[in-house]
Amino acid sequence: MSYKIEILLESYESPEGLNASDRALLDLAFKKLGSGHAPYSGFHVSAAVRTQSGALYVGTNQENASYPVGICAERVALSVSNMQSEGEAIEVMALVYRDPSGHNAQPLAPCGMCRQALREQTYRQKKPIRLIMATEGGSILATANADELLPISFTLKP
Ligand code: THU
Repeated sequence: MSYKIEILLESYESPEGLNASDRALLDLAFKKLGSGHAPYSGFHVSAAVRTQSGALYVGTNQENASYPVGICAERVALSVSNMQSEGEAIEVMALVYRDPSGHNAQPLAPCGMCRQALREQTYRQKKPIRLIMATEGGSILATANADELLPISFTLKP
């Protein structure tokens, strides 16, 4: 027996295709893009989340001279939201980036560690997180359940 795993992705040419609240979240992510700490890679990432009550929180990547100490924007956003909202469920995350080499055409897919963190967050809140991955040029990919980006993943709890 074999199984095929499929992920449904939405594709938009511009933010106009998103609903107003997702557009506002994306605007916030863009507004904070560049305000992180990325002197080593020059690669800036910003992740904005909206919780169930409509509260908005942002995380940006925070690098360190000891490179592995750095943390991605997504995990900063998850931590800030969980702490500030006191554990409210996250409904949506909007993710944007700026690559100094000019390769900015493809939406940024979260790294494996952040996918694991999104998976844990989904488990914690028992509700899927919509993930919007955008570019400054306008093209966007979105998925209704970020958890699906890490299929057959590690977890101690089923
Ligand atoms: N980065 C993120 O913030 N999120 C990702 O999903 C991938 C990578 C950051 C880490 C580092 O500061 C820089 O981007 C280059 O890897």
